[in-house]
Amino acid sequence: MKIGVLGSGNGSNFQAVADAIERGDLKGVTVSVVISDNPDAYILERAKKMGIKALYINPGGYKTKLEPDIEKQYACALKDNQVELVVLAGFMRMVKDYLLSPYKGRIVNIHPSLLPAFTGLDSFRQAYDYGVKITGCTVHFVDSGMDTGPIIGQRCVPIYEDDTPEKVHARIQKEEHILYPACIQFIADNKVSIAGRRVKIYNSDNRINNLL
Ligand code: GAR
Repeated sequence: MKIGVLGSGNGSNFQAVADAIERGDLKGVTVSVVISDNPDAYILERAKKMGIKALYINPGGYKTKLEPDIEKQYACALKDNQVELVVLAGFMRMVKDYLLSPYKGRIVNIHPSLLPAFTGLDSFRQAYDYGVKITGCTVHFVDSGMDTGPIIGQRCVPIYEDDTPEKVHARIQKEEHILYPACIQFIADNKVSIAGRRVKIYNSDNRINNLL
């Protein structure tokens, strides 16, 4: 299964996926292309260092989404690289119809909270400020809402008395780096089906949910 990764920043989740492929832990998957809306994103450097095609595509004038014509360019770039699954890894824009319709049920996202709690930006900080004692990360299929698509897997982490939002995010990221490759593996192996809001995973394991 060929994947295309979209990211706006550091790219540690992309790195976790690429490393899992290189180690042979994530089987039957290759990264065809990495695309960023930010010319300075470290994710592009990471891709180049690994010999993976890295593209910057100017996102246009909007802050939270791509201009429609530009979203078409993103879709074309993904198609040109035979991408079958689009992996959002810290891509800080909503995706709309020009990506959603050619890739219906084939776009996944990772989010740093236990959805449906704390959608949008800086979710780890929202969770910390709210005072919850447990938070985590979620991998879900992408639909037209903000962080609303059917949930594939979730891993949880504690929030301690002497925490900071940054420490909480670091703890969540460790779990993200386990969860994302695992979810992609289940999709590549055709072990995932969507029935309404519920995602069924055939023979899932505790990489998908650390309470299992
Ligand atoms: C990750 O924690 C991811 O969950 C979050 O951005 C970070 C990207 O880190 N995504 C969102 O907040 C999306 N709403 P990375 O660039 O090191 O993978």
